[in-house]
Amino acid sequence: MKAYKIAVIPGDGTGPEMVREGIKVLETAADRFAFRLDFTHLPYGGEYYLEKGEVLPEGAVEELKQFDAIFLGAIGHPDVKPGILEKGILLNLRFALDQYINLRPVKLFPGIETPLKDKGPAEIDFVVVRENTEGLYAGSGGFLRRGTPHEVAVQESINTRLGVERCLRYAFQYCREHGKQKKLTLCGKTNVLTYAFDLWERAFHEVGAEYPDITRDYAHIDAICMWMVKNPEQFDIIVTDNMFGDIITDLGAMIQGGMGIAAGGNINPAGTSMFEPIGGSAPRYTGQNIINPLASICAGGMMLEHLGEKEAAAVVEQSVMEICATRIKSLGAGRMGYSTSEVGDLVAGELHHG
Ligand code: IPM
Ligand code: MN
Repeated sequence: MKAYKIAVIPGDGTGPEMVREGIKVLETAADRFAFRLDFTHLPYGGEYYLEKGEVLPEGAVEELKQFDAIFLGAIGHPDVKPGILEKGILLNLRFALDQYINLRPVKLFPGIETPLKDKGPAEIDFVVVRENTEGLYAGSGGFLRRGTPHEVAVQESINTRLGVERCLRYAFQYCREHGKQKKLTLCGKTNVLTYAFDLWERAFHEVGAEYPDITRDYAHIDAICMWMVKNPEQFDIIVTDNMFGDIITDLGAMIQGGMGIAAGGNINPAGTSMFEPIGGSAPRYTGQNIINPLASICAGGMMLEHLGEKEAAAVVEQSVMEICATRIKSLGAGRMGYSTSEVGDLVAGELHHG
């Protein structure tokens, strides 16, 4: 029987509750499709940091590299200054494990409410491929005369040919395999960011020449924001840099029903990838069993797809869709009509006999 080694980082706040339900569904899928998932829980997060005084122990990255994938809950603790855990765990792992793709499906499931008037599941169904290791996130820059009236703060966007090209290549390939319209939209700002997006645009067309089956499309970031609201149906796969990708995937999460459902993958196609619900740790709901676990369950589905268990992944998604269409009242915490664990049970039950 095929077996996968999965590192689980439940993290903070409601992370552990979400992860618990994600694992419940993953185990049901493994059972049905006859593979094994060996979970190893790791304690990293806010509590660990407050107790040990370090975000990750020495050797943590090397240890994580030994796993087939990482299943993450949520990072963020009210007693830890914002930035420490995000930088020390989430961004650190993305960089150290070279997870150069952030993959974020924006798919409205039947039965889920979107704030977009007159739009439904047929119109809201696209995927954002976000570059995940460069751009403004690279941490290049610094201060001059900090704290004085003459202070200067510089934060540079780093775009390497290698980094841009591998991201584009992934996006073209992803579009070939999964795109419904076989259309890849580059999201940039070529009219103002005339260096960074000049590189992106040239590489886009050069790599794109190897994919004659994919239609190449371009739009500026501001126009994309407009069209994601007005005409989301025009999008199939969108590829963009780290910062723009961060912004439009929150917009995407909102039009697909909110943080209760949005999931993402931090992918290194040749290494260890990490899957997560994209919402935060929602600490005020901790332990109440009212938070929506569907985002974590969907992240689990993405992990199965990535591991090559495609049939199982498809059935997880179908089960979530079925439950959304027939049972869930609202995606909001406390408004689902069910508790956190009941939602996990519903999806697992559907998966079991569905
Ligand atoms: C995300 C998050 C992170 C990011 C934060 C928590 C550092 O917003 O995964 O989109 O900016 O990438
Ligand atoms: Mn974000």
